[in-house]
Amino acid sequence: AFVVTDNCIRCKYTDCVAVCPVDAFFEGPNFLVIDPVICIDCGLCLPECPADAIFQDIELPPEQTPYITLNAELSQVWPNITQLKAPLADADEWNGVADKLHLLER
Ligand code: SF4
Ligand code: F3S
Repeated sequence: AFVVTDNCIRCKYTDCVAVCPVDAFFEGPNFLVIDPVICIDCGLCLPECPADAIFQDIELPPEQTPYITLNAELSQVWPNITQLKAPLADADEWNGVADKLHLLER
């Protein structure tokens, strides 16, 4: 499956959800996740993310491995999101800031 990782936090551009053919994205306050059971590995979302936050699980940078579990867990409790919406207000300031996991809101 594809995995949303650290750099989505506090950005949430949502360009990814607009292209997903199976509506696999789920939305939290300042982060999105992909349900790994729904994801069909089409790869369409990856190039859409302005924050380069999406990876296939088999190509995940080692420091991003906690996000495999986070995507699986949080996709079971957060609501589905299927349409593009405005990014978070200061998304461009947070894009590229490293290690935002402690800022994740649930
Ligand atoms: Fe959706 Fe395809 Fe991205 Fe999986 S890889 S989340 S199916 S767009
Ligand atoms: Fe996040 Fe990138 Fe989608 S910032 S909401 S994974 S377009």
